[in-house]
Amino acid sequence: MERTLILLKPDAVQRGLSGQILARFEQKGLKIAAMKLMNISPDLAAKHYEAHKERPFYPGLVKFMTSSPVVALVLEGIDAIAVCRNLMGKTNARESAPGTIRGDFGMSRSYNLVHGSDGPEAATREIGLFFPEGVVSFDYAAFNWIYDPVEELKK
Ligand code: RTP
Ligand code: MG
Repeated sequence: MERTLILLKPDAVQRGLSGQILARFEQKGLKIAAMKLMNISPDLAAKHYEAHKERPFYPGLVKFMTSSPVVALVLEGIDAIAVCRNLMGKTNARESAPGTIRGDFGMSRSYNLVHGSDGPEAATREIGLFFPEGVVSFDYAAFNWIYDPVEELKK
């Protein structure tokens, strides 16, 4: 079982697409382990995008991500990080495949609707940054119908 940090970016919230985008993840079978609407402070944006500090698009990215609220989520599932990245599509929404979130809802490389952690280390770090209070622990009844326990126990 894996956890990932997902952000519905300011463009998703402002365009009224939060519900439709969340539904993509939810209907796939990912469990919502934490969720909140929040403003990203410049300090949090700097920590979150530390790896991109030297990139030419960094100042614009921080300005965008702090300009208006985001929906922050922790999603949980087997291989959740890769599953979410596949659902999101390529960074440049104009090149993202139809059927992906960015492919279906976006036209921009920078205003691309959604963020997802890109590996286990990033996920742990980002979940800690956005949810220092921790996630919500509960039994997700649907798990037993989303996964075949016989198949998964063999792994
Ligand atoms: P994310 O981190 O948001 O999940 O997206 P990603 O892995 O697909 O893309 P990444 O390379 O990590 O870039 C982070 C975000 O910066 C913006 N960006 N703008 N204008 C540009 O050339 C450019 N390149 C990246 C996007 O918002 C991207 O999601
Ligand atoms: Mg990234």
